[in-house]
Amino acid sequence: RSVVVAIDGPSGSGKSTVSRRVAERLGLAYLDTGAMYRAATWWALHRGVDLTDTGAVAALVRDMPLVMGVDPREPGVHVDGQDIGEAIRETAISAAVSAVATNLEVRAELGRRQRAEIAAQEASSAFSQGRGIVAEGRDITTVIAPDADVRLLLTASEQARLARRAREVHGSDDAAAVEATRDQVVRRDADDSTVSQFLVAADGVVTIDSSDLDLEQTVQAVLDVVAR
Ligand code: CDP
Repeated sequence: RSVVVAIDGPSGSGKSTVSRRVAERLGLAYLDTGAMYRAATWWALHRGVDLTDTGAVAALVRDMPLVMGVDPREPGVHVDGQDIGEAIRETAISAAVSAVATNLEVRAELGRRQRAEIAAQEASSAFSQGRGIVAEGRDITTVIAPDADVRLLLTASEQARLARRAREVHGSDDAAAVEATRDQVVRRDADDSTVSQFLVAADGVVTIDSSDLDLEQTVQAVLDVVAR
């Protein structure tokens, strides 16, 4: 028996941390698809490609030597042998990633790789305790794995999302840090809106609102749905 858990959610919903913990608890693989879009953005910038040149970016991404680590205890991101796990979290990448994520040829290529990884984890238990994977992003429940055994939308109020983001990026959720975060988050959500169907849950997708839940409570809420 294998299990595929698909989790979508907007920025600051906590989906990455929650998904990792859930994968650890269930002994499953973990795939952060947002990190793949970030890696593609890093690679294009690193190679000096103009992000508005969609054909050139797509060609580069098709040949991108990306290796995604799927161990939830240590989900590494390597391109061409280089560890870019930290570099892809930098502000310059966050500011540029929507331009790459709205490139339809890039989405087709990364989508292909994501489906292949999910299928591989369903088929083999080489890495994990059981067969299966927790895959998270913006379009996993709808486009990448609409047949997943469990499909979840993790939401949170804008206020809660901004406070979480501010703590991540600025180490504080005081008023100044939240304001500094607001611009970036609201702008990226708007830039993403053509590809993100994350604001409403698709048919059959269970919504979990984490605004008033801490990390452990949110993890538990997800595990409860998986156990149903
Ligand atoms: O930082 P945050 O958690 O908001 O985002 P992320 O999960 O690291 O994803 C970064 C960016 O990748 C998003 O802003 C989207 O532009 C893009 N993305 C996407 O288009 N589709 C996905 N399945 C995942 C991410």
